[in-house]
Amino acid sequence: MIYFDNAATSFPKPEFVYKEMDKCLREYCANPGRGSHKISLKSGEMVFETREKISKFFNISDPMRIAFTKNATEAINYGIRGLLEENDHIITTSMEHNSVIRPLKHMENEKNIDVSIIKGNNYGVIDEKEIEKAIKKNTKLIVTTLSSNVNGIILPIKEIGKIAKDNGIIYLLDASQGAGTIDINLKELYIDIMVFPGHKCLFGPQGVGGLYIKDTLELNSIIQGGTGTDSQKLFQPEYMPELFESGTLNTPGIAGLNAGISYINLIGKEKIRKHKYNLVKNLIDGMKEIDGIKIYSKDDYDNNSGIVAFEFEDIESREIGYVLNDIYEICVRTGLHCAPLAHETLRTLDKGLVRVSFSYFNTVNEVSKLLDILNDIRKSLCLRKS
Ligand code: ALA
Repeated sequence: MIYFDNAATSFPKPEFVYKEMDKCLREYCANPGRGSHKISLKSGEMVFETREKISKFFNISDPMRIAFTKNATEAINYGIRGLLEENDHIITTSMEHNSVIRPLKHMENEKNIDVSIIKGNNYGVIDEKEIEKAIKKNTKLIVTTLSSNVNGIILPIKEIGKIAKDNGIIYLLDASQGAGTIDINLKELYIDIMVFPGHKCLFGPQGVGGLYIKDTLELNSIIQGGTGTDSQKLFQPEYMPELFESGTLNTPGIAGLNAGISYINLIGKEKIRKHKYNLVKNLIDGMKEIDGIKIYSKDDYDNNSGIVAFEFEDIESREIGYVLNDIYEICVRTGLHCAPLAHETLRTLDKGLVRVSFSYFNTVNEVSKLLDILNDIRKSLCLRKS
């Protein structure tokens, strides 16, 4: 089997991750922050150490400004819902995932918020000047993705953040595609809220994600419950991370995320990014030689986070996915990728796209195999037509 669906979730995980999760579950997986016995303290220490590791990874000064969530979607909901009030104006882009678009659409009805959606060009490139032009007196928030999950285009997040800062607007970055591969230095960017999943480029397991909130920002809690702190109080603590950490944390998931980040630190983000880019370049160069393939991803380093989206003329993307899976045991994602506005921007809402998304564990040899297969599919298509 060849796995090319790493934008959905990275697979396999580094050996470190399997070992650390196994160790956690067998040796110390008590409830962190809920007891004073030995293994509860140990799990609490591991959770804190992971917060510290994440802070260093993204250059965040205070580890306590990071809350663990179950995934990036939950973190986005906490950020958006914890912040927005009646009649606020929000700017976002057409390259967002439904994890951003759907909460905003709901809040249009719930709180009468006003949403401006900045459209990307044919490749989904977002012009930050269009975001600036959309600012209104009541613009409270700009939300963008770091990189599109559909075609890997990378957004100008530094420029967007600067526009937000200069206009006194909060900037929420959805770093779902790229956190772990693309360097994110929060001391150099103007990001107020950032969300990330643990299970994609950070190599953790599913079921763990994170929410960073800048120390000058106060948000409302969304879910209330036990936090293991201030237990005499009947109301949710108003401080981070407890504000967003009601209920038992995913301790083994956090242990896995910790190990995933250790692995990235060992290899180096830059090396990982270059490796993924090399695979993108190889695949796109090879595809350009195959008649009838239309490529929707850019092939330059600064504009691709590790994804190649394409279509074969005349064939539904799902049909290609079916053949790749059933005959060749190649895993890709096809159809619509939970980002309808991005497909609309790329004009692929009808047929969808075939998406190949890379990880550090993929190889040039695997890319060559895929290219051979795509050539074979092309030939059999020609035969079908003749
Ligand atoms: N958002 C994930 C993807 O793009 C699930 O496949």
